[in-house]
Amino acid sequence: MQTTTLRLHTAFRIGEVDPRVFGGFLEHMGRAVYQGVYQPASRHADAEGFRKDVLEALERLRMTVMRYPGGNFVSGYHWEDGVGPREHRPTVRELAWNTIEPNEVGTDEFLSLSRRMRWAPMLAVNLGTGTPEEARNWVEYCNGASGTKYADMRVANGHADPHDVKLWCLGNEMDGPWQLGHVPADQYALRAQQAGKLMKSLDPSIELVVCGSCSPLMPNYMEWDRTVLDYVAGLADYVSLHRYVDNRADDTPDFLAVTNAIDRQIEELDAVCRFVQAKQRTQKRPYLCFDEWNVWYKTYNREGLDPKGDFPRHLIEEIYNLEDALVVAGFLNSFIRHADSVKIANIAQIVNVIAPILTRGDELLIQSIYYVFEMFSKRRNGVALRTSVQGPTYRGTLNGEVHYVDSSAILDGRELKVFVTNRSLQAEAPLEIELSDEAISRVENAELLTGPDAKAANSFEKPHVIRSVEFKDVEINAGKVRVQLPPLSVLAVTLELG
Ligand code: AHR
Repeated sequence: MQTTTLRLHTAFRIGEVDPRVFGGFLEHMGRAVYQGVYQPASRHADAEGFRKDVLEALERLRMTVMRYPGGNFVSGYHWEDGVGPREHRPTVRELAWNTIEPNEVGTDEFLSLSRRMRWAPMLAVNLGTGTPEEARNWVEYCNGASGTKYADMRVANGHADPHDVKLWCLGNEMDGPWQLGHVPADQYALRAQQAGKLMKSLDPSIELVVCGSCSPLMPNYMEWDRTVLDYVAGLADYVSLHRYVDNRADDTPDFLAVTNAIDRQIEELDAVCRFVQAKQRTQKRPYLCFDEWNVWYKTYNREGLDPKGDFPRHLIEEIYNLEDALVVAGFLNSFIRHADSVKIANIAQIVNVIAPILTRGDELLIQSIYYVFEMFSKRRNGVALRTSVQGPTYRGTLNGEVHYVDSSAILDGRELKVFVTNRSLQAEAPLEIELSDEAISRVENAELLTGPDAKAANSFEKPHVIRSVEFKDVEINAGKVRVQLPPLSVLAVTLELG
């Protein structure tokens, strides 16, 4: 393959990479909470019932924000069921996933876990079957000083100090007909406006995320966003977008070219945000919150859902392979390239349910996508730089033309972090990285992820098929980097300038 040249300039900056782009999502769904982060009967359980092995693995991902408790689950969830003494909490029929919710884990447990993990909590309120007032009461429960009803309820439950939750989502995927309480855009917008006003009156320091279109496949894609923003632009700090991508066609080159579609979705929503901002002549620009993203298509588990069946159910426990890991790198590259508009993003989800980590009894498996998230997350600080790429391209069947090498770059003082993916199935990609105004003097460290073929994946029996390893073959010559990227690989490299 011909050489790809990645040209950068330290003054050509996109914007600070918001650390909250490295967030996660924990839903009361399948085995994410129960048998995921929480399993009092496990030999790994701590005094609070959380699994230490799972938390240690999550710790390495250095996630910054954690969205909770849903997802679809939240649209039927009443937060008061999940607080107070456990023996008084009701077990309820859960209709989003048609299962049972014992409410053993609720607000206080999640917020104590968040403190421990240094996650900024991001709570989603129920705007499906819940009311704006219920949402307002939850803010008081979490953030109110003692002396009023819901704040005192928290104090009585053993939490004298406010939890101080800053990020709140106004519902989940309310444009989806599958969502409990789904309504047309203008009706959701009114609910969101009422709830948002009450919530911000209670605590003006909170930030709000309104539901945008949950997929470009929705019939009212972007029309939904425009309508919602017309009502709530002044209140909304962020608009949400979701994306689950698939390789149902078993067309790996096209699957890997999905970065075009991700870039495009971000740019389309940002355009609507800027349009409404201009129309309303306001200084307030709603930013983007990509609060669910991942690869998801191999497992649906829709059939056979049985409320009287096992609890917790094994729902959408996707096995991730090498090509999925490259696509996860593609999402992260895209978020970095759009650092000026994407301020929060949450990989969906964190354990068992479409997740980088799987548990089986007391065992734990690290999946391919875990390593990619870790490679980026540990190098995330700094300002995103524009990348000018010159090199060979190919055309995906549906996703259009892309460079074989996908890329992003972050500058942090005298450190330059570069992330590159070689999408070729067979060919090595020779790559040069150069800065127009600076020399690159040293490789601080580099990690590579690759594997025997696109479908190779880790399993409990063979857990180390795909993992990141230290990479020594990054050369520096005359202030430029030269490297040969193996086929189907992701490289993250930290370089020193000077
Ligand atoms: O993450 C799984 C589900 O996907 C979420 O509950 C929902 O918001 C989305 O459709």
